Amino acid sequence: MAESMKGLKRSHRCTEVTSKNIGETVTVMGWVAKSRNKGGIIFVDLRDRSGILQLIFEESNTGSENFAKAESLRSEFVIAVTGEVAKRSGAANENLATGDIEIIAKDIRILSEALTPPFPIEANSKTKDELRLKYRYLDLRRPDLQANIMMRSRVAVLTRAFLEEEGFLEIETPVLTKSTPEGARDYLVPSRVHPGNFYALPQSPQLFKQLLMCSGYDRYFQIVKCFRDEDLRADRQPEFTQIDMELSFVDVDDVIEVNERLLAKMFKETIGVDVQLPIQRMTWQEAMDRFGSDKPDTRFGMELKDVSEVVAKSEFVVFKNALEQGGSVRGINANGQAGMPRKKIDALVAFAKDYGAKGLAYLAITPEGEYKSSFAKFMTEEELAGLVEAMDAKPGDLLFFAADKNEVVWDVLGNLRLEIAINLDLLDKNVYNFLWVTEFPLLEYNEEEGRYTAKHHPFTMPMEEDLQYLESDPGRVRAKAYDIVLNGTEIGGGSVRIHQNDVQERMFEALGFTKEEAYDRFGFLLNAFKYGVPPHAGLAYGLDRLIMLMAKVDSIRDVIAFPKVKDASCLMTDAPNLVDDKQLDELCIAVATKEEEAEAKNKEE
Ligand code: AMO
Ligand code: AMP
Repeated sequence: MAESMKGLKRSHRCTEVTSKNIGETVTVMGWVAKSRNKGGIIFVDLRDRSGILQLIFEESNTGSENFAKAESLRSEFVIAVTGEVAKRSGAANENLATGDIEIIAKDIRILSEALTPPFPIEANSKTKDELRLKYRYLDLRRPDLQANIMMRSRVAVLTRAFLEEEGFLEIETPVLTKSTPEGARDYLVPSRVHPGNFYALPQSPQLFKQLLMCSGYDRYFQIVKCFRDEDLRADRQPEFTQIDMELSFVDVDDVIEVNERLLAKMFKETIGVDVQLPIQRMTWQEAMDRFGSDKPDTRFGMELKDVSEVVAKSEFVVFKNALEQGGSVRGINANGQAGMPRKKIDALVAFAKDYGAKGLAYLAITPEGEYKSSFAKFMTEEELAGLVEAMDAKPGDLLFFAADKNEVVWDVLGNLRLEIAINLDLLDKNVYNFLWVTEFPLLEYNEEEGRYTAKHHPFTMPMEEDLQYLESDPGRVRAKAYDIVLNGTEIGGGSVRIHQNDVQERMFEALGFTKEEAYDRFGFLLNAFKYGVPPHAGLAYGLDRLIMLMAKVDSIRDVIAFPKVKDASCLMTDAPNLVDDKQLDELCIAVATKEEEAEAKNKEE
């Protein structure tokens, strides 16, 4: 039977008890991690969020009633034990913070009994994800997850303290709101009072934080949930957390400066990593040219080289066609990989095709200096020598080339570069390479929609010197936008905002909005700007991604207490679920059954 806490007070968490407490009486509480009965003496490993402490029960110390309780203990029982701290009688356990002491138990209460958990509560679990997530409350007892969640708390607290010190105000913005354009699908919430009308959950507090600048709050921040209905990946969740901020009377450098100090503090004070300031900066163009990615992982080389000029006169149709169509030929050099088995090369060719490549040309230079290649036969000796030189290749190297439109070549080689690095185990999780990527294109052409869309969002300021091209050559305009990249992951992004109504209206026009449409969607912001708005800029971090990298885990699920799975459902609560007809009636919502839906579709056709 579960006993109460009456008259009992915890004196220490498990690992707060140390050899300094030897001889003292302490009261500890937690879960039974392990219990072994060695005939007349019972050893219990007690676990709480701080770690493990060994308890010893002997009838001569506890009395028979307490000893019987100790005998009944099983894994995950919750107990309170009062006893004396002693030097460990057996050999010290160097793996435990409390490995040189033990508690000679005098008194025990069983606060809660427990069923046998469906999987062992231990670090580095081999348990399948589905089971872990169904019993997330048990999964969350595991020491590695607890460490991640505690790290997350620490980062949030540090961030608040730092930003408060820097003059930021923490201000909340609505969750039931109107669509914010961050490029994903919205989650909608039906209104009961206004049948047929829907709130949108915010994809970010973007518009509200800009309004707060308009209202004179000067520096705002919020650690805030954002909602995006998009396909999930290892670093994406439908609801995730941003550290969101906005500053008035600033330009790019001011935002970067305060954020570099924030990052340095965060990394130093949570994981002891020194961030070298200032953080390296690279324009978007340079990032694409050198790494084929706008979020380059700079922990290793294997940079892209443009060899278009070298092969400009080549008769190899693959290269020739790409160049004739305004594309390029670029390559990467996998140093020392000339001996890569054919099977592995074929796998890389297939990988490249997944990223839209029509093929992938390769050239291995054997240690003897001979070529093994998929395309050498189409090239002259001279052209090949030119390629080898341009790629800084030596015997033993393996070269890959992609020929296509620039966007395809970048994407293919950028991803291939990463894939090879993963295969060769070149990515060291203990190295933290930060990088600002700046001067993003303002717009990108959307083939499907036949119009330009905003690369960051429609409120991002064009670079002053490019503003003149907004109508004549929109694709050429660069933005005052920046991303902060860590080891190839975009951990944050932001921009200077447009604060002039005429520029904002030109931007909407470039995006294909009529004035009416723009006012219909964002009128409250455009009107606000007519009443005096300071120049402003901001940035938002993906907190989950940041913690994922700090904790050196591969999925953001491991740093979120209650995450969702790939199909955006929660395996523990079973959300989302069907609701009562009564609830639907109140909302004036009718849900079509699958059959009805199919029937309606048939009629349409
Ligand atoms: P952005 O859309 O770049 O900018 O988002 C900022 C950061 O949020 C993280 N992030 C995500 N993390 C987990 N799951 C997701 N689905 C997800 N989507 C984004 C990324 C990203 O860098 N309002 C602007 C910021 C600004 O301009 O100030 C914004 O939301 O790490
Ligand atoms: P093919 O003549 O089509 O057999 O191509 C010869 C070699 O060029 C093969 O290794 C193909 O994989 C490669 N290749 C084909 N298309 C491309 C491309 N767009 N970029 C790079 N290599 C390609």
